[in-house]
Amino acid sequence: MNSADSSPAGLAPAHRALSLWRLRPFVQPYLGHLTLMTTAALLATLAGAVLPLVTRQVIDGPIRHHDRGAVIPLGLLALGFGLVEAVLVFLRRWTMSASALRLESDLRQALYRHLQRMPISFHDHWQSGQVVARTISDLSQIRRFIGFGLIFMVVNSATFVIVGTMLIITDPPLGLLVLACSAPLAWIMYRFETGYRSRSRRVQEKQGDLATLVEESSGGMRTIKAFGRRDLVQDRFHDQATRLRDLELGKVRLLAMIWAIVESQPQLLLAAIMLAGSYPVVHGTITLGTLVAFVALFLLLVWPIESMGWLLATAQEASTATDRVFEVLDAEPAIVDRPHPMPLVRSTGLLRFHNVGFTYPGAARPVLHGINLTIEPGETLALVGSTGAGKTSLAMLVPRLYDVTSGRITLDRHDIRDIRLTDLRRQVGMAFEEPTLFSASVRENLTFGLAGATDDQVAEALEVAQAGFVHELPWGLATRVGEQGLTLSGGQRQRLALARAVLGRPPLVVLDDPLSALDVHTEARVERALRAVLAGTTGLVVAHRASTVLLADRVALLVDGTIAAVGSHHDLLAGDPVYRNLLSAEAELGAAS
Ligand SMILES: Nc1ncnc2c1ncn2[C@@H]1O[C@H](COP(=O)(O)OP(=O)(O)OP(=O)(O)O)[C@@H](O)[C@H]1O
Ligand SMILES: [Mg+2]
Repeated sequence: MNSADSSPAGLAPAHRALSLWRLRPFVQPYLGHLTLMTTAALLATLAGAVLPLVTRQVIDGPIRHHDRGAVIPLGLLALGFGLVEAVLVFLRRWTMSASALRLESDLRQALYRHLQRMPISFHDHWQSGQVVARTISDLSQIRRFIGFGLIFMVVNSATFVIVGTMLIITDPPLGLLVLACSAPLAWIMYRFETGYRSRSRRVQEKQGDLATLVEESSGGMRTIKAFGRRDLVQDRFHDQATRLRDLELGKVRLLAMIWAIVESQPQLLLAAIMLAGSYPVVHGTITLGTLVAFVALFLLLVWPIESMGWLLATAQEASTATDRVFEVLDAEPAIVDRPHPMPLVRSTGLLRFHNVGFTYPGAARPVLHGINLTIEPGETLALVGSTGAGKTSLAMLVPRLYDVTSGRITLDRHDIRDIRLTDLRRQVGMAFEEPTLFSASVRENLTFGLAGATDDQVAEALEVAQAGFVHELPWGLATRVGEQGLTLSGGQRQRLALARAVLGRPPLVVLDDPLSALDVHTEARVERALRAVLAGTTGLVVAHRASTVLLADRVALLVDGTIAAVGSHHDLLAGDPVYRNLLSAEAELGAAS
């Protein structure tokens, strides 16, 4: 992830240009606008550069010859150029930000769209804070550069060339003196740039780390408080925040040094011009007007010189930000449609695992291997196994949250990788072990997978999940729940997630331990209703309790990542010691009560 740091320091400007060049497709739509603004800025500079020449005419002509009448046309000319400059500056300032802001928003949306297409495995390996930092602060840095830095880099470079040429034409010896003195500055800038690059990269990485820390601790606040580890978390944050501050300070120190050098340069040069220029004026080799024009022209270079360090810093930060954004954009979405995906309107629900194996990306050992299973249309299969056996992993393969690494899964005899992904996922209603609710209304959460669901469908799903409690919420179905809304209990959340999975009766229902948080009575009620739903659809239900297992027609026992036995609950209980061991404690309890 630190690829930018590994390139040789001497390549910095080339590297920067290359990174920023990658923004091309996003800049394209605004190219016309940006060109217009740059032209306006250039014309404004030109209009400003003409003023010293007019001044020379005034000093060497009317003033020298005490000819008051001739001042007026020259004065009006100067006024005209001044006005043109003002209008052009206004025009540029006014329109500048709009394009840059639009470009930022385009990039942000592209990034978010890309993140949505990334498989779960991508998010397993990327810290959420890094993703947040890239979509928020890195993009702002890019915007700042495009909307301001880039234009001024072009304008300032042009100013250097135009005014530099004018200086040499106005007075060749003095002009060459100025140029000769500027050469060391260019070298200092180049050195500065290489140092600044690695620092800004480290700062941006650290910001991502800090964002991750804040996010994790706000999500895990209960655990932190319950274990009384506020100080531990506080210390960790303090460490990270201090390190970020030190990195920033290093950046600022470098910037301060460069400012000092760059700021003093024009003053020194001005002094040199005055010293070297007064001599020929006294001796009459140049006119007073020429020296004044020369100084006035030189003053036009002060801002471009002074802003150079800052502009290079902005460019540097934008290039680092671009690298970081493209690290995300370059990550290939691994789970996508094949070239000519098969449409699937409604599956019959025949689900088959053919010698399926699965290894998590980056993991050494397979989690699942040699899985052979058939679930007939309308049948419900319970998946039983000890903790960590691979039940959740198996369930996630069905809607292709991960892809099998060997063998294949078929739905209606088609490899699920051949079916159009959106169609496949529409066939599967899924409830996870840890139900996620979004900060939205209950209804929006319920219809997350079926946007056009009717009121009847919603009512039915709520009935199946025994989630009538939603009607008692302050605003019923319109109550906001989730992160920023009303907090629900674990069992309530689970029932909403279950209702969401069965909404609209999808042909395939995958439930990962859906009833674990319910009390016995609610569980019994949910089971009764669920039995009716499962009768019509194909079901894969991960279960830990005998009562849930009894919902299923058959049971598959998963041991160490492979299917050890398949049969009815009673057969397995009688014939399989592992199965008996897993469920017997509960069976005994059940017998005792
Ligand atoms: N994202 C992941 N990356 C790498 N390994 C993982 C990942 N998720 C799970 N594992 C590993 O895969 C194995 C199976 O996990 P899985 O979640 O499928 O078990 P499970 O049977 O659902 O367990 P439980 O009953 O506790 O829910 C575990 O050893 C776990 O460490
Ligand atoms: Mg699990």
